[in-house]
Amino acid sequence: LPVDPFDLVIFGGTGDLALRKLLPGLLRRYADGQIPDDSRIIGVARDKQSDADYRAKVGDALSRACASDEVAKAKLPAFLEKLGYHALDATKDEGWEEFASELKAHGEDRIRVFYLSTSPSLFVNLCDRLRAHGLNRGQSRVVIEKPIGHDLASAAVINDAVGSAFAESQIFRIDHYLGKETVQNLLALRFANILFEPLWNANHIDHVQITVAETVGLEKRATYYDTSGALRDMVQNHLLQLLCMVAMEPPAALQADAVRDEKLKVLRSLRPIEAEEIGQLTVRGQYRAGAVNGAAVPGYLDELGREDSRTETFVALKAEVDNWRWAGVPFYLRTGKRLPERVSEIVISFRQIPHSIFENSAGPVMGNKLVLRLQPDEGVKLWMMIKDPGPGGLRLQQVPLDMSFAEAFGVHQPEAYERLLMDVVRGNPTLFMRRDEVEAAWKWIDPILAAWESKRESPKAYTAGSWGPSAAVALVERDGRTWHEDT
Ligand code: BG6
Repeated sequence: LPVDPFDLVIFGGTGDLALRKLLPGLLRRYADGQIPDDSRIIGVARDKQSDADYRAKVGDALSRACASDEVAKAKLPAFLEKLGYHALDATKDEGWEEFASELKAHGEDRIRVFYLSTSPSLFVNLCDRLRAHGLNRGQSRVVIEKPIGHDLASAAVINDAVGSAFAESQIFRIDHYLGKETVQNLLALRFANILFEPLWNANHIDHVQITVAETVGLEKRATYYDTSGALRDMVQNHLLQLLCMVAMEPPAALQADAVRDEKLKVLRSLRPIEAEEIGQLTVRGQYRAGAVNGAAVPGYLDELGREDSRTETFVALKAEVDNWRWAGVPFYLRTGKRLPERVSEIVISFRQIPHSIFENSAGPVMGNKLVLRLQPDEGVKLWMMIKDPGPGGLRLQQVPLDMSFAEAFGVHQPEAYERLLMDVVRGNPTLFMRRDEVEAAWKWIDPILAAWESKRESPKAYTAGSWGPSAAVALVERDGRTWHEDT
């Protein structure tokens, strides 16, 4: 369905995120007919350049990003027509008046989206100026990206700054994991089927695993990444959001605040990890040189160009949600760079059957598993026990009921950013984080960071292309469990 016409301003319009994700996403939505022709997209950055220069630069990036998408390529010239450029400095007055009047020329009812794809250090200035020029009124919305702070206190500073110019209902905090197809499908799976919900609790679920594995390393983001590390970069936001979607109670309705209220309750129920348990419940790793997908890659320190860094590129941890539904059910989370494959999945491991009627010769009866794969090959697999086909007596075998979305529907799934950008234009914040969620997540993360800091331990080394330090395997094996392997 087409959205209403809008003006979208991308601060940081020449940056990596804009060129690699936001603009390609917008082009695909345009090519799909979702963006009306009288919409405008305005790139803003400090450098002076003409609209034509900007269009040429974006045109180049988009031809590469959408090389295999014929429909998008055909629509590229018309899309570029919608693009404009403004040189503005968040810290100087110059040019803002003109910029504001150009936007206001479309009237107060026009949907305006301000995407702050800049360093968070500019958020305060940007929001102040948007407010000073009356651009925070009417149908204005602001989108912010992580990192929303590096701890609870700094997150509050950012939230205060944005909140002083925009009402909470106008603020869209993106966590692009929430825009992934399978994550939303979790809502459908859990709340549109009678099958799972009765089993979705500590009586029937043994444990949950959430893995977000990447093959990439630093990707030219050394400065940011080295001050962040995997816990802040991935766990505080993406992995905890996934955990919330798995663990939350049924919301009263599929409405933004109803869903976010339930997620918040989960975050508040996370059992704090105490300093003395840090070695038992968390593992930090940093990759050394190795090979990923057959290609040799340097170690983290080499990529960074430094002799020393205690930043973790891998983290595994055991979390618990202290409430009636989940008491005693561990949630094992792990994420890392330079792992053997790019895979994100949630594994719900059900308990063993209470009693087996089968002979030992039938083989072990394994617990059912529901595997939700976010990427690549989005889909859902339900691992079940069946009789091994054939005449050789009753032997058991574990096989997946397999639903690959691409095979089942044969359509290209919109990328997370495409969907989320359209949600911002529609003014639907269901898949965005509310301030209290972000802060509750930091409240749980901060003591882990503090405990690590006080131990001053270096992260454990792991070879690039392996599944992280062996301590991560030990973390689950200590509990008599193993990380899921899709074999
Ligand atoms: C970002 C992190 O939020 O997510 C990156 O900052 C990470 O470090 C990326 O690579 C992963 O996103 P995706 O969609 O490729 O899994």
